[in-house]
Amino acid sequence: MRFLKLFVLLFVIQTQAQQGGMWIPSLLKGMNETEMKNLGMKMSIKEIYDVNQSSLKDAVPHFNGGCTSEVISPKGLILTNHHCGFSQIQSHSTVENDYLTDGFWAYKMEDELPNENLYVTFIVKIEDVTSAVLEGTASLTNEAEKQNKIQENIAMLSRTLPKEKWQENKIRTFYEGNQYMLFVTETFTDVRLVGAPPSSIGKFGSDTDNWVWPRHTGDFSLFRIYADKNNRPAAYSKDNVPYTPKHFLPISLDGVTEDDFTIVFGYPGKTNEYLPSVAIEQIVNELNPAKIEIRDRALKVADSYMRKDNAIKIQYASKYAGIANYWKKWIGETQGLKKSNAIAIKKESEKIFQTKVAKAGKEKEYGSLLADFNKNYAEIAPYALARDYFQEVVQRNTELLSVGYRLYLLEQVYKSNGEQSFNDRKNNLITALSGFYKNFNLNVDQNVFEQLIELYSKKSPKQFLPQSLTNIDAKNLATEIYSKSRLRSYEDLKELLTGDAKTVLANLNKDKAFQLVKELADKYSTEVAPKYDEINLTITALQRTYMKAQLELNKDSRIFPDANSTLRVTYGKVKGYEPKDATIYTPVTYLEGVMEKYIPGDYEFDVPSKLIDLYNAKDYGMYGENGKLPVNFIGTNHTTGGNSGSPAIDANGNLIGLNFDRVWEGTMSDIYYDPSICRNIMVDVRYILFIMDKYAGAKNLIEELKLVHPKKAKTLKTKTIKQK
Ligand code: ARG
Ligand code: ASP
Repeated sequence: MRFLKLFVLLFVIQTQAQQGGMWIPSLLKGMNETEMKNLGMKMSIKEIYDVNQSSLKDAVPHFNGGCTSEVISPKGLILTNHHCGFSQIQSHSTVENDYLTDGFWAYKMEDELPNENLYVTFIVKIEDVTSAVLEGTASLTNEAEKQNKIQENIAMLSRTLPKEKWQENKIRTFYEGNQYMLFVTETFTDVRLVGAPPSSIGKFGSDTDNWVWPRHTGDFSLFRIYADKNNRPAAYSKDNVPYTPKHFLPISLDGVTEDDFTIVFGYPGKTNEYLPSVAIEQIVNELNPAKIEIRDRALKVADSYMRKDNAIKIQYASKYAGIANYWKKWIGETQGLKKSNAIAIKKESEKIFQTKVAKAGKEKEYGSLLADFNKNYAEIAPYALARDYFQEVVQRNTELLSVGYRLYLLEQVYKSNGEQSFNDRKNNLITALSGFYKNFNLNVDQNVFEQLIELYSKKSPKQFLPQSLTNIDAKNLATEIYSKSRLRSYEDLKELLTGDAKTVLANLNKDKAFQLVKELADKYSTEVAPKYDEINLTITALQRTYMKAQLELNKDSRIFPDANSTLRVTYGKVKGYEPKDATIYTPVTYLEGVMEKYIPGDYEFDVPSKLIDLYNAKDYGMYGENGKLPVNFIGTNHTTGGNSGSPAIDANGNLIGLNFDRVWEGTMSDIYYDPSICRNIMVDVRYILFIMDKYAGAKNLIEELKLVHPKKAKTLKTKTIKQK
């Protein structure tokens, strides 16, 4: 009887315990296989990750360092999100040829558009290299020395560990410095734009619907990888040929139902699941509110111009989306952390931790960790806040100041490395900034400046504020700087940068915008950054020990490492949720919902007339389901920024969807994952195919794909067996 109880309990834990998690593909065998099979997976782990045979991982490249993509044809066709390809789509767009508004489709390979600075990276293999990385560090007690030695070891190992000459070795840390993994990678740089729906499909609902369920966005775009004649990475050349992948994903036309098993395979960027409660308090009460307020103001200014002027709308579309995205996420995250009682729950588990430490007799090693966290977080608070103000106002949201900051760094290079380095950097900067000025509008930025510099002077910690900013008239300052600074235009700037280092620097130092940046940056780099870095180093070391302690004291629970932009597997089920009292969200949306949201002519909710026609005719072809066309669905997969563009894969390894977002109530999952409300949002792959085929008429692309019907195939098979 007791056995039975235990068995039932274990079974319940195995099938229901979905605490989220982003798992390392090479370690699934021991850690996750049973749970995955219990949830409905039909594949073997080797089909997901294998070094010698082709496996799913060979179809999932990192897209441009920040998103994920997947190979869906034998000719190197890849799928990612519209918002991941957004700046490429934008860069080919003009007011006359506006691919953002109208979409873009290459009906022949010759029409595919090359992209400078776009790359995709495949993982060849993953190996644990912890002991080699930590060699010679055990005796070092000084944290900075220890980190230097680790960096030295990493550099040496990356150089010497075996790889082919077109490959790269990259070493990344897991569990906050308790484990190190080697990734052998291959990076392709000739990646061309193949297709994108109009923004009214690819970005339908725009910022209003961003981070929100129910959702109706066709957030996808298509690219193609090109390789040299030997199928190896090569710089762009018209002689390059479509890449032949080791594996590409078949696409299932069967669709999803609630409780279907799903895997999301991709490159989650960064999570902080193991922070102490004091750190979360700081995020909720201080850092998030400050950043939200800054971006709130910047966005309002940009929005007012974009609504009036189409050229500005194109110039600022990508930047606006980027700023708005995290602005909104921080709002959701702050709310979610409060609503889910994350801080109280963490505090409770910290008490339990403390008891466990005592029980295990580990007080000497781990007993003071939590008190040390408290002390260090209190100490870092003003520095962290000042740092956020500097980064948000100077480096990110006021464009003129961000150029000024790059020039400030140029001056630093001259001071530390001399004329030659100065010239190299100057020339690079001139090239890099030509793209910047193409999308720069002086009026927009002057207004942003006025708003943000006022916040800076009123709300950033007083002790780090330059004298000249303590009492300002923001409007006057804005007029003064924006009418006089030579950073106003590319031509002026190029002229300003003409001559030898001495001349350039003398002229720069006469520029009003540069002078202001220099004052801010000097203050920041002498009084904020060094102290911040110093305390942060201590916190990082504490976090490493805290992680080690948790791994040691919770041997029988599985603990996943925080995301770090490396390839991970997360899995779960298609599932709805209850966002609030008396409200139930079902897991699939349909084209009907697009039409419900339709606002003619609106910049967020307009619908292209051709889509309306297809809807009225119910012309869904093989992509519909009982007379309806599925658009998006949600699941319990634990994802984060970077998972955008990740394939959602069924129990058999076929593509069923394209990950692109999370739900509003669950945006705090980077810090605290609550399985009852955290959901990821995916585009149903049939909506993507429908748009490619019926909307765009890109039959050429549909023909490249391998479309399958696993469920139907199964019923057919059982029928034949029964007949026998
Ligand atoms: N929230 C999604 C992610 O973090 C999609 C963002 C793109 N869309 C937007 N409206 N900004 O990337
Ligand atoms: N939208 C995110 C991305 O771009 C995904 C997420 O944060 O859920 O990676």
